[in-house]
Amino acid sequence: MSIANREFKIAPSLLAGDFSRAGEEARRMEACGADWLHLDVMDGSFVPSITFGAQLVKSLRPCVKLVFDAHLMIVEPERHIGDFLRAGADILTLHIEAANEPLLSQTLRRIREGGAKAALSVKPGTPAQTLFPYLDQLDMVLVMTVEPGRGGQKYMPDMGQKIKALREEITRRGLDIRIQVDGGVSKGTIALAAGAGADTFVAGSAVFGSEDPAAAIRELRALAAEQ
Ligand code: DX5
Ligand code: ZN
Repeated sequence: MSIANREFKIAPSLLAGDFSRAGEEARRMEACGADWLHLDVMDGSFVPSITFGAQLVKSLRPCVKLVFDAHLMIVEPERHIGDFLRAGADILTLHIEAANEPLLSQTLRRIREGGAKAALSVKPGTPAQTLFPYLDQLDMVLVMTVEPGRGGQKYMPDMGQKIKALREEITRRGLDIRIQVDGGVSKGTIALAAGAGADTFVAGSAVFGSEDPAAAIRELRALAAEQ
């Protein structure tokens, strides 16, 4: 599928929401027209902070029908795949820097056999080409446009080259893979990412920090589609 007829997806990140009311926040995003809910899982080891794990994902599952997009910023992700699948995550994104590479193909297969979509992410310092050997086994790639670990950081425009390289390779091989960007996505930056070839956008502060999150989501989607 070419980018031209691809739907743009906006995935608000719960990280920017109020954790004491996580279920209500998820429902609020659904009501505001979010496509997916992005769930930032941090383990205090792959990244300095700790957020939450599969138990919270499981508790949120009955609250909404939204696609659960779990971004696993954790070491040894292969140990936790089963828990996140059982918790009801629809998309599992692992970091290539954290994955056990000899096991990676098997891990991606386990995700798909478990009924979820498989995705791999690269941190800003990791070349796009490291993902190429795995593209056949992926439903999505995630290009981090900030250092993973916290919300509210500044978008790195240099990552556009990486998005472009992935888009070219995906098109060349005729694959059906989404390209997601995460970090600093806002009204001011989404066009850069979309112009480079991204079709799926995580937005934490730009949505949760807005007085009118529904309008913010609509506006982000419209700005992406203008590219
Ligand atoms: C950062 C997380 C992001 C974060 C984005 O490690 O992966 O998903 O929530 O937040 P904003 O959109 O505020 O940069
Ligand atoms: Zn994320």
